[in-house]
Amino acid sequence: MGNQVFSVKSIAKSFGSEKDGNYMEVIHDVSMDIAEKEFIVILGNSGCGKSTFLKILGGIEPATAGSMVLNGRDIGTAIPPEELRRFGFVFQSNNLLPWRTAEGNLKLMLQIMKLKGEQWNKRIDEMLDIVGLLDYKSVYPHELSGGMKQRVGIARALVHDPDILILDQPLGALDAITRKMLSYEILNIWKKTQKTIIMVTNNVDEAILLASRIFVFSNKPAVITHEIKVDIPVEERNHQIGQNTRYNQLREEINEIVRAAM
Ligand SMILES: Nc1ncnc2c1ncn2[C@@H]1O[C@H](COP(=O)(O)OP(=O)(O)OP(=O)(O)O)[C@@H](O)[C@H]1O
Ligand SMILES: [Mg+2]
Repeated sequence: MGNQVFSVKSIAKSFGSEKDGNYMEVIHDVSMDIAEKEFIVILGNSGCGKSTFLKILGGIEPATAGSMVLNGRDIGTAIPPEELRRFGFVFQSNNLLPWRTAEGNLKLMLQIMKLKGEQWNKRIDEMLDIVGLLDYKSVYPHELSGGMKQRVGIARALVHDPDILILDQPLGALDAITRKMLSYEILNIWKKTQKTIIMVTNNVDEAILLASRIFVFSNKPAVITHEIKVDIPVEERNHQIGQNTRYNQLREEINEIVRAAM
């Protein structure tokens, strides 16, 4: 495994206040060390705090307590503005701007990140190509299928060349067949781009196909209940993975863990 790029130590997050009677602890204590090029998958029941956790990692919200270390630098409870470029975020709900084309949505990300110039414009095409949508560059979101919209969302999260890609149930809203197909595409994107990826899913098969390590969250307030290393070589992760003995062992083991947590 490569160098450690990102550590979170005893992260906690609560909303509201005791005084107002609406205090709620969502994340109790979560720590993890993430190495370069790792694919981390988080599994947990609905409402357990997964999106909340990803928002802290991606710099969208600060933690209430704990600290984070990014490339050896202690950054405390929030990602500082100058580090936001290191992150690409694919949200649980597709949030493409409907009045912008696929290309326009990627361009906006570059504008937000203040990245100008020919090499960045070229990167728009490269990323649309990576997700197989170069021909749909000038198309508006309402003309795209659900799976295509998610692929534009992934291209947008990659366009500013982040180190760490954060995916919040990117395939959650898709039908089973499209979902399966796109999970192999995410695997290929990971192989091609060599990014560090942190993804939430509620699908055990998807988790094993993609993850180097899987973290299982408890119900709210979240702690990590299990950490599972997925020791299946990358070469064996393909459409035949269903016949892999180790895959089937892990599948049984993790399904049991998930069932018990319900
Ligand atoms: N901004 C907020 N203010 C108050 N409570 C919030 C806020 N964001 C999230 N919560 C609460 O935190 C809890 C966890 O929400 P979160 O979205 O992290 O769950 P999740 O694990 O991503 O669920 P799902 O799998 O359904 O997406 C929920 O009870 C939610 O109501
Ligand atoms: Mg969520």
